[in-house]
Amino acid sequence: MASDTQNSIVKKIQAWVFNHLDLVFTILRWVKPVLVFKNFAVVTRFEYVQEVLSRDEIFLVTYQEKMEKVTAGENFFLGMQNSPRYTRDVSNMRLVVRRDDIAEKIAPFVDDCAAKIMASAHGRIDVPVELSRVVATRLIGDYFGTPGWNEVEFADAASSMFQYLFFPDDPELEKTALKAAAKSRDYIDSTIAERKRNRRQHDDVLERCLQMQDAGMAGMSDLDIRNNFIGLIIGAIPTTSKCAVLVLDYLLSQPTLLDQAQQAARTNDNDALTQYMLEALRFNPFTPGIGRITAEDYVVGRGTLRATKIPKGTNVLVATQSAMMDCLKLKSPRQFQLDRPNYQYLHFGFGLHTCFGQYINRAQITRIVKAVLQHQGLRRAAGQEGQIQYEGPFPVHFVVEFDD
Ligand code: HEM
Repeated sequence: MASDTQNSIVKKIQAWVFNHLDLVFTILRWVKPVLVFKNFAVVTRFEYVQEVLSRDEIFLVTYQEKMEKVTAGENFFLGMQNSPRYTRDVSNMRLVVRRDDIAEKIAPFVDDCAAKIMASAHGRIDVPVELSRVVATRLIGDYFGTPGWNEVEFADAASSMFQYLFFPDDPELEKTALKAAAKSRDYIDSTIAERKRNRRQHDDVLERCLQMQDAGMAGMSDLDIRNNFIGLIIGAIPTTSKCAVLVLDYLLSQPTLLDQAQQAARTNDNDALTQYMLEALRFNPFTPGIGRITAEDYVVGRGTLRATKIPKGTNVLVATQSAMMDCLKLKSPRQFQLDRPNYQYLHFGFGLHTCFGQYINRAQITRIVKAVLQHQGLRRAAGQEGQIQYEGPFPVHFVVEFDD
């Protein structure tokens, strides 16, 4: 009985903290920027967040065990510590996912795909269901060469695997995610086999991987290709969709900004819109932070008044959301400003494990949002429909309306 009461108090405190994260982080930044409590730590100042994320040999990624289950005994580079295999796998994927493709392939594809969807929306669209998830999934189809066995199920599979990898253990979720993982592995295997029978028909990521395999490059067996594809698909679909929804939600809550962003959208000013996107995500962040575990004792902020030892084996929340509101680093962080330098944005992580898709994100999220902003009379649908509805961490419904 006593422990039931205790549990319910702990749950209430957790819920309060979760609903007031911004306030909690603000207090922590001033009072205890590196808080260590039992085997948990939270790091909230910009300088310390960057320090932690730069020390990849001390603050280890925690995804390996689950990533091995998703890949059936393999791994993917997000789940790897800094190692020769990590460098090999990331380098291989950088050879096939090229920055030049953003201007030549990705941006035109996303512009076209999003514009077509909006043109057939007739004044009302459920953004995650009909636009943001669809565009992100179709880009994986067109650019990677893996459209999925079914567009909706493929995106659902990516979302459940993502949730499994990045959120606390939950047996039900594990079951769904591992089923989705098995289906995704089979699908990727059969797509690789099918593409081997039809070579050089496309210039996409899969064909490029097969060309590297032809050349005998290490890390490019069918199984290696499958592992890389699984990891990239998980990283790409639900994340992109969520960010696009969060940006639109924020702009719709700020009429003056919305008006200015719509003007930028109508003049196709992608650079300005990228700044709107990055800034809106500071106020409506994708995640409070990134998880790490310490490989050894480490003093964060050594030599400063705030120096704090984090013991070996501590789970650390590296609060990127908080860092991006730190007035010791950002000028007037509570103001929406479009001229902030790029290094002040930590949406896509920092250090060794910085998001592999960071440049794609800048192009893709911006363009999905642009396709909506280009419409006149843009507004939320009335009532609950016009507010983001979540399933787990991901928006599943968010309806907006427009006149043209
Ligand atoms: C095309 C879309 C995307 C792809 C292919 C992708 C892929 C990846 C991969 C492979 C990593 C691990 C990098 C490494 O280990 O070196 C990563 C990290 C990360 N991604 Fe993405 N991602 C995409 C979109 C996004 C979006 C939209 C967000 C939203 C904020 C995001 C946030 C992050 C973060 C915060 C990390 C760091 C994780 C950590 O350090 O623990 N990604 N991404």
